[in-house]
Amino acid sequence: MQTLQPIPPHIVNLADHEAAAREALDDNAWAYFAGGAADELTLRANVSAWQGLQLLPRVLQPLQGGHSQVQLLGRTLAHPVLLAPVAYQRMAHPDGELATALAAAAQGAGLVLSTQASTPLEDVAHAYHRMASDPAGDSPGPLWFQLYLQPRRDANLQLLARAEAAGYQAIVLTVDAPVHGARDRERRAGFSLPPGIRAVNLPATDSCSTTPPGDASTIGGLLQHAPTWADVRWLVQTTRLPVLLKGILHPDDARQALDAGVAGVIVSNHAGRTLDTCLPTAHALPAVAQAVGAHMAVLADGGIRRGTDVFKALAMGAHAVLVGKPYVYGLAHAGAVGVAHVIRLLRDEFDIALALCGCATPADIRPAHLFSEKQYPPTSNAIHSHLKCSNQPSACTPLNPHHRAPSAALLSQ
Ligand SMILES: Cc1cc2nc3c(=O)[nH]c(=O)nc-3n(C[C@H](O)[C@H](O)[C@H](O)COP(=O)(O)O)c2cc1C
Repeated sequence: MQTLQPIPPHIVNLADHEAAAREALDDNAWAYFAGGAADELTLRANVSAWQGLQLLPRVLQPLQGGHSQVQLLGRTLAHPVLLAPVAYQRMAHPDGELATALAAAAQGAGLVLSTQASTPLEDVAHAYHRMASDPAGDSPGPLWFQLYLQPRRDANLQLLARAEAAGYQAIVLTVDAPVHGARDRERRAGFSLPPGIRAVNLPATDSCSTTPPGDASTIGGLLQHAPTWADVRWLVQTTRLPVLLKGILHPDDARQALDAGVAGVIVSNHAGRTLDTCLPTAHALPAVAQAVGAHMAVLADGGIRRGTDVFKALAMGAHAVLVGKPYVYGLAHAGAVGVAHVIRLLRDEFDIALALCGCATPADIRPAHLFSEKQYPPTSNAIHSHLKCSNQPSACTPLNPHHRAPSAALLSQ
């Protein structure tokens, strides 16, 4: 692990981390981590869709005993922010996924490790669990393993057995990338993986058959192995761990996932890296949450850059959110400290949003906290129906009376 340096005081938000990462990364790595598919319209729309939503705060609400804890798949999390699976993190920083694991555990954030991690999955689990058991740390978030279905069943079985043995607590099957997106930016940069960086958890031969970055012409071979609902059912029956599907945008797919015995869905478009011009996740989330949110975990990612975005996702029915690029940017310029700082910023901004919207805990967040021209001014009937249709209480029950007051001072750590 490299020597840890403090975060410079001018870095006060996630956009600042992005700018610092641009300085730290070469053009090759920047094209991979920052780029999206084609014209990058979905990449940008993910961010602007959250920004376009307006909050409708309530004042003078009782905030005593507040906290930011949520419930997810039977666990209490310190806060609703998880780290999304991002491949090849040793290309961003030599400490790669190990630094990310330490920071996530220290900040009580759940972590989803990519199939295409550049660090052995056992080492990441070991680092995460060791840090999570530190009594000075936060209560640990969940540690999940993201699976790209491999062409050979035995390769999947081996990965599942290793993930189960290493202590991963759920399998996240990514379903929105049966082929690689058309990544113009990567092609222009002539992107290639630097020597020594590869998907070390896959056999050397297989790591080339799993949509390698930079290779957009994969349609022939890979489509034979594109996962189907039959594979989802196989996976649910095969692993003893809960299975989540990542990359759901349509409520009918979410319903089908429920029928297949899946424990949760992640509303995601892969950070706009696969199908450009598909809808931003902030627009897809409400229908998915309404379809299945009362029966299974619903998470969302894509473009979340502020604590207010986390708040908005919960107001639309998500039980938790994930971030991808922002923490890799923190990693790129400041290693584990950078990742921890990104999580801390989001947590603190989320706490502030809670308090300023009049919510003591995430369980108090309602759809009515989002301004809607159609429903404004809200009648008491509208408010009543908002309260009735909210699925938050089942997912975000306040369990712990410890109040962690939002602190402006924390934002400048
Ligand atoms: C550089 C990069 C690599 C990624 N690698 C994976 C991956 O290996 N598996 C996966 O399921 N999703 C992958 N994703 C998608 C993320 O898990 C997540 O859905 C996305 O980054 C969330 O959007 P955000 O980056 O705007 O927060 C990757 C995203 C980026 C930016």
